[in-house]
Order: sequence, then C-alpha cells, then structure tokens
Amino acid sequence: MSIRAQDPFVDSFATMREDVNAFLSVLRDSDLPLLYGPRLKPCAGQWRKHFTDKMPVAPKDLILEIGSHYGEVILKMAKDEADSAFIGMDITLKRVVKLAQKAQENELHNLTSILCNAKFLDQLFAPEELDGVLVFFPDPWAKKKRYHKNRLLKPEFLALLAKKLKPEAYFWFKTDWEPYNAEVLAALHAAKWREIQAETGLPSKVYTSRFERLFKGAGQTTFESVWAPPSQIH
Ligand SMILES: C[S@@+](CC[C@H](N)C(=O)[O-])C[C@H]1O[C@@H](n2cnc3c(N)ncnc32)[C@H](O)[C@@H]1O
Repeated sequence: MSIRAQDPFVDSFATMREDVNAFLSVLRDSDLPLLYGPRLKPCAGQWRKHFTDKMPVAPKDLILEIGSHYGEVILKMAKDEADSAFIGMDITLKRVVKLAQKAQENELHNLTSILCNAKFLDQLFAPEELDGVLVFFPDPWAKKKRYHKNRLLKPEFLALLAKKLKPEAYFWFKTDWEPYNAEVLAALHAAKWREIQAETGLPSKVYTSRFERLFKGAGQTTFESVWAPPSQIH
C-alpha cells in the first residue's frame, strides 16, 4: 500500500482500519526508527538534531536514499559508516516498516526509515542540509508516454535537490532505462551540475541494489553516475 497525501505531515491512513493492512498497527504503535505524517514534522530541517539524540555523537554526514525499497543498500551503508546518518525514504508502507525493523534488529541508531513521497523534499529538508542523495533505479514509468509525468527526476525536482545539498555534496543516480538516463543527464548538464569520479567516500564503493542485481543478472545494461550540485548564488 502506497501513501497518497497532499501534505507530508498529515496522517493519510488516519481513518483506515488496521485489519485493512497488517503493517498499519506497526506504523502507529511501534517504537521502530520509522517516521511518517505528523511524526515527521519535528524532524523537518532538523535531521542532525534527530540523529544526535540517537547516536553517540553528532553525525558526520547526512545521506538520503529516495526509493529505499526494503533497505538493501542503505542498511549496508549505515553499517559501513557508523559515524554518518542515513534516511531511507519510500512511499510503500510494507517496505518502510521492513526497513525500520531491520535497522532496529541490527541496532543501527544512525538509520531512520520514513514513509514519504520525495515530491515533498522541500518541506522535509533545510537548504544545504544533505551531504548525499541516492536514487537507484527509480520507477521509470516507461510503458506509456502519458505516465512520464510521474517521473521524479525532472528539471524542477533536480533544482530543488541542488538547494538541499551542500556545495561539496553528491547526487548518485542509477537506472536501467536508457531513455530516462539520457533525460536526467541532459537536465543535469543543462543546470550545470558537474559529473564527478568519486575516489573517496560512499560513491567510490560498490553498493549493489536489489533491482541492480536483477537487471544485471538478466544481462541488461545499467547506467550509473555521480554529480556535484551547481554552484549556488546566495
Ligand atoms: C524500482 S524500485 C528500486 C528500489 C531500490 N532503489 C533498488 O535499486 O533496488 C523503486 C522504489 O522507489 C519507490 N518510490 C517510487 N516513487 C517514489 C517517490 N516519489 N518517493 C519515494 N519513493 C518512491 C518505490 O516504492 C520503490 O520501492
């Protein structure tokens, strides 16, 4: 079940009975590292404080994964980089619950799962709050042209993303869908993002997502690039 809300801080499941979806009671009552709706609001633009309250020291970097699915990539990153903080964002109830359960089982206090649509990025993050953003294999909306309007990575979204990233931060993008890759790369070039060859930090390492493994296993080509935001004029 995917969240459909016009406001990221509203509980769009408020009137739904728990027998409709087994994960609703977990979402409402658990002490998992899982936030959505009204519980997201105090964290908006205050993510370092949120993690400083949970981690032994303030996080070094703050990394967001959009479309974190069941958390295969972000769980591994959070284990590898215990001094940084990670937010896994997805629109699907079951996936965010499962990710939060795994984070708790593994005692990853530097990882929080959030149920939210990435279109609300502006409400969730302060300018230059993020050190890195990953979007691995976003839904390509490939089958019919009229669905292309649903694609996330469009020029307006990329402009917003640039504002939320620190100047030295990165945007790491992977897709299997060549036309989507071409569209995103053209938009990044047009907006003066700079492609980087990461030699240090997370993007210099190999993190294979579930979809990446599926596509590569089927012999399909995948595309991957890392970008630094355009210089902002303040
Ligand atoms: C094709 S899957 C890829 C999952 C994972 N990143 C991987 O590479 O294996 C896309 C994921 O993005 C999520 N998603 C789609 N649109 C989203 C949006 N607007 N905001 C946040 N998550 C979204 C879906 O629920 C799904 O889990």
